[in-house]
Amino acid sequence: MNPNDSKDPALSADYLDTYRRRTPGSAALYERAKKVMPGGVCHNPRYFPPHPVYINRAEGSKIWDVDGNEYVDLWMGHYTHILGHKPEPVYSAIRKAVEAGTHWGIVHEHQVAFAEDFCRVIPSAEMVRFGVSGAEATMYAVRLARGFTGKKTILKVRGGWHGANADLSVAIHAPMDVPESAGMLPEATRFTKTISFNDEEGTVAAIRREAAAGDLAAVVIEAVGQYFVPPVAGYLEAVERETKAAGALFVLDEIITGGRLSLRGAQGLYGLKPDLTTMGKVMGGGMNLGLVAGRRDVLELASPTQPKGKGVLMGGGTFSIMVPAMIAGRTMLRYLEEHEGEIYPELARKGEYVRRGVEEAFAARGIAAKCFGVGSLFTTSFPKVAVGAGAGAGTGAADAAGDGIRTVAEADIRNCEDVETKTNVKFRDNEFRLRMLNHGVYTIWGGGAISMAHTQADLDRIVDAAEAVAKEMAAEGRRTA
Ligand SMILES: Cc1ncc(COP(=O)(O)O)c(C=O)c1O
Repeated sequence: MNPNDSKDPALSADYLDTYRRRTPGSAALYERAKKVMPGGVCHNPRYFPPHPVYINRAEGSKIWDVDGNEYVDLWMGHYTHILGHKPEPVYSAIRKAVEAGTHWGIVHEHQVAFAEDFCRVIPSAEMVRFGVSGAEATMYAVRLARGFTGKKTILKVRGGWHGANADLSVAIHAPMDVPESAGMLPEATRFTKTISFNDEEGTVAAIRREAAAGDLAAVVIEAVGQYFVPPVAGYLEAVERETKAAGALFVLDEIITGGRLSLRGAQGLYGLKPDLTTMGKVMGGGMNLGLVAGRRDVLELASPTQPKGKGVLMGGGTFSIMVPAMIAGRTMLRYLEEHEGEIYPELARKGEYVRRGVEEAFAARGIAAKCFGVGSLFTTSFPKVAVGAGAGAGTGAADAAGDGIRTVAEADIRNCEDVETKTNVKFRDNEFRLRMLNHGVYTIWGGGAISMAHTQADLDRIVDAAEAVAKEMAAEGRRTA
């Protein structure tokens, strides 16, 4: 069955029934899964009701579920696969690497060569420590910052996700002031305080306040906000400047943006020079990787030659520097370097095409929708209430129904808190996701990551799917999400 065939009678029925009818195999697997794994998953964002799709194949820009449905994939391995699933030449390098052994647990040249290339390509990286996940990379970045400065307080962005490590598991989702997790000691997060992305005045005031109190160790931030809300002009520069002026470390979490927004990540795109950087995802070439890189005088604290009490205890762990991971990461980095001139402009063009196409699809049906993103990353938000004013300003729906929704001015949504309070995230994550799946597109937060493997036909399929969803909603008399 062609999932894009709008003449398919199943698709004209209620979207939930349609989804259930298309995915009986996934439903059955979910029933089995939830008996033996909490929620049926091993990472929370992979769950969605009534059941996730279970896939059994991935290639290029596509994934296939156990019921034989084909999807244009926008999740792309948690934004990992910048060249698509199973890309050559990375995939053949991994195959060859596995022949040599998966895991030696003893130092080897591939690790040295990857580290050398990484430090050559990323100007802020004088040294690097490789581990296996982003969560541990950000945890160690915090520990290094505290060890180096001798201070305790960390400022992190409200809505920022840096993995589930205790230091940074504060104010991730609304309501932001409720603890994120049972089982975490309040003491563990006592010295983690928050700032709002794109609020320059508030952020600068917080940095100065903590610095004046004499206890600021670091500001940990992503260059592009949660849900890929872009930074406003001057914001990141102000954060870097003020953090460094306060004697604290500027820690840039580039686990999503590293290798994706440019060869040198967001720091390359926005001209930043972090003291410490974390990366993973793209930089692992499809294998498990989380790394901390940055200033030599800070990283040196992790050396085993440091005397006890002076050094910073930093893992990497049993499975760090696995041979295929080091080879895959290095092969990916070198490929990105060699093709830098063609990859990043093409990804930016593709991202813009999809963002514009999805917005226009909804605007044409009088439904307010706004795509956020930078380069190949995007999300779609659905404002709950009238935001912005004046036809033609920004993008969004015309006020044909007289319901007050005229435009979706960008300035009204500056960060994660705005997205979570002013837009219908429940609709985005449930109904919109299922409707898009029914039309053969796998989204996350209403969007995802475009890869080099996404063809023009794939991009058109994404826009066509959004158009079909907007049409269905309009036919049901819907004016807002
Ligand atoms: C910005 C950011 N930091 C850290 C992490 C944690 O990385 P990992 O899932 O590899 O532990 C993620 C994961 O999505 C992330 O997006």
